[in-house]
Amino acid sequence: MAGKQQEEMDFGADTERMKKRTVEGGLLITFEGGEGVGKSTQSGRLFQKLQGFGIDTIHAQEPGSSDLGNNIRRWIKRSNSSSPLAETLLFEAARAQLMFETVRPALDRGKVVVLDRFTDSTLAYQGYARGGDLKTIKQLNDIATAGLVPHLTVLLDLDPKVSLARVSNEPDLFSTANVSGAIRVDDEGQRRFEQQPLKFHQNIRKGYLEMSKTDPRWCVIKADQAGHRIADAILKRVRRLLIERDVPETLFKS
Ligand SMILES: Nc1ncnc2c1ncn2[C@@H]1O[C@H](COP(=O)(O)OP(=O)(O)OP(=O)(O)O)[C@@H](O)[C@H]1O
Ligand SMILES: [Mg+2]
Repeated sequence: MAGKQQEEMDFGADTERMKKRTVEGGLLITFEGGEGVGKSTQSGRLFQKLQGFGIDTIHAQEPGSSDLGNNIRRWIKRSNSSSPLAETLLFEAARAQLMFETVRPALDRGKVVVLDRFTDSTLAYQGYARGGDLKTIKQLNDIATAGLVPHLTVLLDLDPKVSLARVSNEPDLFSTANVSGAIRVDDEGQRRFEQQPLKFHQNIRKGYLEMSKTDPRWCVIKADQAGHRIADAILKRVRRLLIERDVPETLFKS
């Protein structure tokens, strides 16, 4: 009997050790910035790191990470919508689905949600760069997310000449005003936004920098540094948020 009890206790201790740590109300961390600044690289790194610390974390990408989102992503890449509103509504539909299917349930369970792009992308691209009305986009963002605001938004800031060269096969990318045809094409079709003129990308950058001035949730990081330095700066900020939410500091020692 004593042996059985001991066994149960040991098993209980093991499950406790294996149980991933969650935080009250969850934590939403978003990654923003123009094309090729390193959002996928850094959000993936953060996800791996937090998982390694035993923190219950999920990683998703907008638009995508749902069946509807993946289809919308393909439509947007293939079509040539001239209306920023039409484009915004498509992104918002994908966002609403991701919220319903993934983000809300994860936050309700106390998980850390790492998102590669979120509401600020729509403001930067369809608003600041494409000229859509910012107030309307904010309202649509609010509808799609039921007013959810990230706890932390990492803005990877980089001159688009550098970031676009990172994702291009063409070294002399800006020798002409329109870069059409000079950019890598992925298996989902043309990379639409990358094919916009440099000015478009500069407006995105300006928009992000303007937004980041308005709210302390933003953490702006120069993205021309070595990847590990960027990752360290992000982790430092995330660690602080987690410690504030009662995650023990010792967890981050490994
Ligand atoms: N700090 C860095 N220094 C140099 N190159 C980098 C750095 N971080 C990422 N890269 C490289 O830049 C390219 C783009 O990175 P990544 O795909 O992470 O950017 P992204 O912001 O997600 O791009 P997209 O907007 O296309 O989704 C990749 O080839 C990646 O290996
Ligand atoms: Mg990416």
